[in-house]
Amino acid sequence: MSFQTVLAIETSCDDTSVAIVRRDGFVVSCLSANQDLAHQPFGGVVPEIASRNHTLQLLPLIEELLRKTKMDWEHIDALAVTSRPGLIGSLLVGVVTAKTLALAKNKPFLGVNHLEAHLLAPFLHDEQSPAPVEFDYPYLALAISGGHTQLYLVQELGKYQVLGRTVDDAAGEAFDKFAKILGLGFPGGVQVDRLSMTGNPKAYVFPRPMKGEDHFHFSFSGLKAAAIRRVEQMSKDEVQMNLKDLCASFQEAVVDSLMDRLMRAESKYHLRKIVLTGGVSANTRLREVASAWAKKNKLSLVIPPIRYCTDNAAMVGYAGLLRLNRGEKSEHDLSPTASSWPNDFIEADTI
Ligand code: KG4
Ligand code: ZN
Repeated sequence: MSFQTVLAIETSCDDTSVAIVRRDGFVVSCLSANQDLAHQPFGGVVPEIASRNHTLQLLPLIEELLRKTKMDWEHIDALAVTSRPGLIGSLLVGVVTAKTLALAKNKPFLGVNHLEAHLLAPFLHDEQSPAPVEFDYPYLALAISGGHTQLYLVQELGKYQVLGRTVDDAAGEAFDKFAKILGLGFPGGVQVDRLSMTGNPKAYVFPRPMKGEDHFHFSFSGLKAAAIRRVEQMSKDEVQMNLKDLCASFQEAVVDSLMDRLMRAESKYHLRKIVLTGGVSANTRLREVASAWAKKNKLSLVIPPIRYCTDNAAMVGYAGLLRLNRGEKSEHDLSPTASSWPNDFIEADTI
């Protein structure tokens, strides 16, 4: 049987998202409910609050999706749901809902790896954004968000070699923790980005952990600790007066670290296609530096529209459809897991 249209659910962290996606990657509609306000007082995602909000938001969102697209279950061939990796309580809400709907509507369903879905986001397109021209496997992909920082060699569907991953904090997490110390609110990456625009990136010298080392892993905790220590040595007034320079210098160190691994991986593997995905790929400075590098070296750089870079169900639907059409499906005893399955990725050498 061939599957043309899937209804997808994403609840792995703090965004509740649902989408209807077609086999060629066309997103009919994707609706997301963001929980930033609920987590803001805590400066980070609180798992219990996230899962409770998913429970409240998910079914109304699915109803709205069907209403908005004027589609009903007759038009849906299968369901796809993020089943790993992520916050277990959050994943559980999505997986149980998908299983229940699959049973009630008599449809097959598939549990999808969230990170695989991020890697396939460059194939998504919709009425506002056409598909990237002549884009196909293989490519290098940097997945950078509040929960993950990984560099992959995407060979083909299902063959993803992890070249490097963070050994401590994710890039977005480092932005958020630094922003928290500065009192900028959550999630802090956007605020740091905004303030950096008129700051001096050379005002403070922050470390670039692992830069130039002979591997592709990342580390941000040393940078984060050094930056926080610097802020703690300053008076409140001094911090306020130098906020833009602090942000620009910190941001420069993160961007420099990400670009170091990306550029070295490109020169080692000679892949001319580069993808940036995950919430941090919205960063203005990173986009600027990556675009200049790609242009200079005649590389094709694809950054999906930001709505498909951040956590969203459209990417889950597309990954699910590709796999359903290869004959895969999940059974009703599927349980979510906090980590990826051993065979999901070809793992990097450890350091
Ligand atoms: O992909 P995402 O929406 O959710 C997950 O974490 O999975 O990514 C959110 C992360 C947060 O850490 C946020 O601070 C960061 O992406 N972020 C940014 C920017 N926009 C979002 N970091 C730096 N610059 C930005 N413009
Ligand atoms: Zn994600």
